[in-house]
Amino acid sequence: MTALPPVELTVYPFECDASGRLTESAFLQLLERARWDMLARGPGIDLFKRNNAWPAVRRATVDYRAGAFPGDVLRIDSVVAQRGTTSVTLRHAVTRVADRTVVAEAELVFVLLDRVGRPTPMTEELARFFGPRTAGGPARESLRITTGDAELSVEVRGEGLPVVFIHGFPFDRTMWRHQVAALTRWKRIALDLRGAGASTAPADGYSMSRYADDVVAVLDALGIRDAVVCGLSMGGYVVFDLLRRHPDRVRGVVLADTRAEPDSDEARRGRDEMIALARRDGPEAVAERMLPRVLAPTTFAEQPELVADVRTMMVRWTVPALVGALRALRDRADSTDTLPAIRVPTLVLVGEEDGITPPAGAERMAGAIAGARLVAIPAAGHLAPLEQPLAAGRALSEFLESLPY
Ligand code: MLT
Repeated sequence: MTALPPVELTVYPFECDASGRLTESAFLQLLERARWDMLARGPGIDLFKRNNAWPAVRRATVDYRAGAFPGDVLRIDSVVAQRGTTSVTLRHAVTRVADRTVVAEAELVFVLLDRVGRPTPMTEELARFFGPRTAGGPARESLRITTGDAELSVEVRGEGLPVVFIHGFPFDRTMWRHQVAALTRWKRIALDLRGAGASTAPADGYSMSRYADDVVAVLDALGIRDAVVCGLSMGGYVVFDLLRRHPDRVRGVVLADTRAEPDSDEARRGRDEMIALARRDGPEAVAERMLPRVLAPTTFAEQPELVADVRTMMVRWTVPALVGALRALRDRADSTDTLPAIRVPTLVLVGEEDGITPPAGAERMAGAIAGARLVAIPAAGHLAPLEQPLAAGRALSEFLESLPY
């Protein structure tokens, strides 16, 4: 993830409507101005011209969060969220300087076109500006933290209230990359569980409580007493174990696309079949079996690069780690009694098209936790934070803003 230099721009009266608010179209122009300013201050405004490659917007998503008015100075922070061979995704966070109000968050996907409108690969100079390729690869900057017989790969960014991101199965911490990049007002800690991503994969010893103890080992190594813990699916099961085993280390909870119930007998048989499949045919076969279920139909239709990326994440798992995690999933405890015992602020998040842990279950779960908020993310499946990063990021930031620090 490459951060581009921040830019500050003033809102002019002619960019605002009759009620005095910055209009949507002027907002997009303001972002464009910010991008040209970044070029002018860095590699030069003729960067694209001299490389014979023109960035064309393929998709733009904007979450407007607050109005902006004439005279407001807006700070535009930008990161390269994804960098492919011919495409680049930029994420902008726009904040009013005077009171740090987030005015909007935007994500734009650009394709580089040559003079006749064909996608063209990035030149070396453009690649230097946008940073290393990200699609499909594990995040590069990370700490190594040893816990028992495993070495965990942990990404730590920023300062503030600590938030630990725990991925699901069979994914890794890069599934949280958008939130790690965007939630700049908090200390983001994303770990690869043992056996996942860039962490080592011991031959055995996997369980939800082992994963939970590993999270605590990470907090200890970073000198953090307590944190908001944010778990997706299997990450949520780890959160339940944390709540039971280490309640004093949990300051707030986010349960994303997960459930409190244990596996049914049928689901346990399914785990055994998957274990046999992993042993016989390896991670590719597990990915083929699981991939169709984890993403929303909308994601398959509209985000083919993301589908390929999730598949890559899955096939990076080793067979011992897959087998260990599947046994841990099969044998996990019933956490339904843990829900009413939760005493910390809680957000329940679910993709509206999640077929594995559907919205009805999320509603029941939120109903069993005192004061829990529930947010359903449209056009997202079981990986809502990755499929719809802006909407999920917004739900998370609103929740985190409500917590004392
Ligand atoms: C996950 O995403 O972690 C899995 O779907 C969890 C499960 O299979 O129960």
